[in-house]
Amino acid sequence: MKVLVVGSGGREHALCWKIAQSNKVDKIYCAPGNGGTRLVAENVDIQANDIEGLLDFALKNKIDLTVVGPEEPLVLGIVDKFEEKRLKIFGPDKECAQLEGSKSFAKNFMEKYNIPTAKYRTYEDYEGAIKALEEFSFPLVIKADGLCLGKGVEIVETKEKATRVLEDILKNKKFGKEGDKVVIEEFLHGVEGSLLCFVSGNKLIPMESAKDYKKAYDGDEGPNTGGVGAFSPSPLFTEGLNKRIKEEILSRIEEGLEKEGLNYKGILYIGLMITGEEPKVLEFNARFGDPETEVLLPRLESDIVDLFLKTIDLTLEPKDMVWKKESSLTVVLTSEGYPLSYEKGFEIKGHDELDESIILFHNGTKYDEGKLLTNGGRVLSVTALAPSLDEARDLVYANVDKISFKGMFYRKDIGK
Ligand code: AMP
Ligand code: GLY
Repeated sequence: MKVLVVGSGGREHALCWKIAQSNKVDKIYCAPGNGGTRLVAENVDIQANDIEGLLDFALKNKIDLTVVGPEEPLVLGIVDKFEEKRLKIFGPDKECAQLEGSKSFAKNFMEKYNIPTAKYRTYEDYEGAIKALEEFSFPLVIKADGLCLGKGVEIVETKEKATRVLEDILKNKKFGKEGDKVVIEEFLHGVEGSLLCFVSGNKLIPMESAKDYKKAYDGDEGPNTGGVGAFSPSPLFTEGLNKRIKEEILSRIEEGLEKEGLNYKGILYIGLMITGEEPKVLEFNARFGDPETEVLLPRLESDIVDLFLKTIDLTLEPKDMVWKKESSLTVVLTSEGYPLSYEKGFEIKGHDELDESIILFHNGTKYDEGKLLTNGGRVLSVTALAPSLDEARDLVYANVDKISFKGMFYRKDIGK
């Protein structure tokens, strides 16, 4: 089989790495890929949002299966376009991808099907939104409706700050059309956890749990990022919690998908806030998480291509997914200044001197004249699989010390 992976981050490197282990696969392409995907796939110079370009490539090269990493092409309808041409593609269609592409769509879905989530209101007009601030207590959360490269969510402590944020989104159009609406919601306290599910014919089959670190600095301080560390499994997911998640969240999502006449297939990433043993949904993503994928896929025993094909054929069952007992952990090395402004193009040293047990996923790198250079805010995910979380963590940090580049930054407390 020939497989095309769409995207260019650590998630896509992990996908290419796992797909390469399938004996069904002869050739992998990654569009546009990065310095790491180049080691297991052939990079193709087509951007992830260039749907016509990708379609043309897939047709000309007789691609048997396309796997979509990021959300933007999904929300733009890449799956619908490929399916019109009878090409196999793994991911939800445009309508289903709204669960990530529109916060108000997702919140309305949750409300309608009684899926526990933060209380919220949706606004299109600035005056209405300002007035609504009276109804909420602080802190509260303001979310631009659409896709904003992970920058559309603000947690605000005061009315003054809330007014400024609403002005930026609704009046000054900071996010353009993506901010035509805002969701204002109650701030939830608790611990966050990610549960990624394969969805095949509206049936949710959860993967193992993962914990993602979203804040930039140690002790969960600093700005929100795309995720700068992760581990799996997360001890947060006790038997009691899993039971509640199944009854109060997963089965209601399944019911909602059916009743809305949707046909979801692909990944549904459920971002949860857990308070005690009470789970609430923070958000949905219509794709694999990054860096969750970097810790989940090393633990997956099964052939991932089988899982993709069965999902598309609507025949996937829980028994198809087998997991290793070991724990995995990843620390993301970032460029100084991330998630705000940062420089790129610095040489990375020591990446080829790591212990054999380390899996190095590239998030933002490129090769130039044989040298590996930084090429993004998130640069490398240093990952290990070990009998326990402590061992995985010790292995990772011992190897992080062998890598260096100008401005290299990372959290020291992942998995602690
Ligand atoms: P979202 O894109 O909706 O997941 O928001 C990004 C991040 O903002 C989440 O991972 C949380 O850390 C935080 N967040 C979002 N909504 C809430 C909320 N209602 N209460 C507390 N934190 C939130
Ligand atoms: N790690 C969070 C995300 O992928 O959205």
